[in-house]
Amino acid sequence: MSNKKLTRTSGAPYFDHENSQTVDRRGPVLLQDFILQENLAHFVRERIPERIVHAKGTGAYGKFTVTHDISVYTKAKIFSKVGNNCKIFTRFSTVGGEKGSADTERDPRGFAIKFYTEDGNWDLVGNNTPVFFIKDAKKFPDFIHTQKKHPKTNLKSATMMWDFWSLNPESLHQVLILMSNRGTPFGYRHMHGFGSHTFSMINSQNERVWVKFHIKTKQGIKNFTHDDAVKMRGENPDFAQEDLVNAIEMGDFPKWTVYIQVMTEDQAREFRWNPFDVTKVWFHDEFPLIEVGEIELNEVPVNYFAHVEQAAFSPANLVNGISFSPDKMLQGRLFSYPDAHRYRLGVNAHLLEVNRCPFGFKNYQRDGLMADSSSYGDSPNYFPNSFDGNTVDESYRDFEYELDGTSVGNFNRNENDDDHYTQPGLLYSKAMDQQERDHLVYNIVQSMKGISGPKKDEIINRQLCHFFRANIEMGMKIAMALQVNIDVNMMNHAKI
Ligand code: HEM
Repeated sequence: MSNKKLTRTSGAPYFDHENSQTVDRRGPVLLQDFILQENLAHFVRERIPERIVHAKGTGAYGKFTVTHDISVYTKAKIFSKVGNNCKIFTRFSTVGGEKGSADTERDPRGFAIKFYTEDGNWDLVGNNTPVFFIKDAKKFPDFIHTQKKHPKTNLKSATMMWDFWSLNPESLHQVLILMSNRGTPFGYRHMHGFGSHTFSMINSQNERVWVKFHIKTKQGIKNFTHDDAVKMRGENPDFAQEDLVNAIEMGDFPKWTVYIQVMTEDQAREFRWNPFDVTKVWFHDEFPLIEVGEIELNEVPVNYFAHVEQAAFSPANLVNGISFSPDKMLQGRLFSYPDAHRYRLGVNAHLLEVNRCPFGFKNYQRDGLMADSSSYGDSPNYFPNSFDGNTVDESYRDFEYELDGTSVGNFNRNENDDDHYTQPGLLYSKAMDQQERDHLVYNIVQSMKGISGPKKDEIINRQLCHFFRANIEMGMKIAMALQVNIDVNMMNHAKI
């Protein structure tokens, strides 16, 4: 079969793409014209919900290269050696406008980077401003409403914006940046990027420092004046999209230098502002920029929808050695982005090419819309299990830190959390009468007889140990009914 033939999505070639099947020549259209059905049905489903913020944007693939050694601060594998590099995907955006809005609106610009590292995908979902309008995630929906259209007029409203800003003085720092010419950058290549929030880095000694990320344009800062930006909105609403795509297609790959600022935990305790307040910067003379690496964008994705529209960035995508901080905004964002992806792209957004970790992933999340078997095959769908040998790795533990005298991030359980036996033992010996005990044993035996396969003995013996530890008589009765040889270890476990 020639691969130039039109086919249905099932692969079957078909004849007529342009004329519907009818009764006679002029007659009504037949329901049996499945090509017509397929095309119309697929067409009306081409749109997915646009991002609730940052709907208008463009993206490109590229490369991140580590140029300076910061392994003293972080054990992240990507930073383990100068010269390390990884593929990246970057998406730039405006914030308030719809998907069809103009690129030169006065607005912050999104600057989101996905680093495909061998230790997992790390997303730095930042803006072109070092601060933000608010410092608590609870205010975000209300704030964003003021940046969008008025509920009645469906027009942007300076009244709503300035009403909110005037009632929230914490916004002033960001408002001044927004109202400067940096609020109308000349495309995306001529602006800086910032992680904005305080993040943390953890080194191989498990020492934590607080960090901020800065991404400085090598093209030089260039902005529109207010009047030129207004003019460009009419002349070319897609100015920034075109500027980026043209530059990359012509081989003029845009570049940025990546820096961090570092604050020790002691310095954070002494800092005159809350170091986790995203409306504040850390002055460069106190916390100098430390060069880290370089970003280059060099590939326009082959399909905009597949790669740019379906890109799913999340501040919760962190890698070992880079972590979050108590910043209340950041903490809210850790929830909101994966939530948005489940709504906008579905529960399996991580399987899409742009979002998928190229180094693979292993977990027990299964099924859901658009699951594909390449991720899991026939491997077990629960953990722990006796079959696949997967383990958790202690070296990836996110260790605790102290904040105002309280430890944060504890994974340890209470002392008595491991007593799984006293109460089941009492249930058997005290709460049940003899008939109930006999029925219980009988029912357990009937169920456990169904255990089969190469791990049969291992599973039965492990479970018998639990019965013995709860009540020896119960364990003995079940073991005997299953015709299991009771070994000494089992009894030892039961602390006879
Ligand atoms: C996009 C929520 C603050 C940068 C988004 C999206 C949501 C969201 C729901 C759409 C995600 C999607 O559909 O894929 C929030 C909340 C915030 C917050 C709840 C405050 C609590 C911030 C801040 C920054 C930021 C402070 C920058 C420092 C971005 C960027 C995108 C985005 C760059 C677009 C990502 C992309 O290109 O796909 N935000 N956001 N956001 N946000 Fe935020």
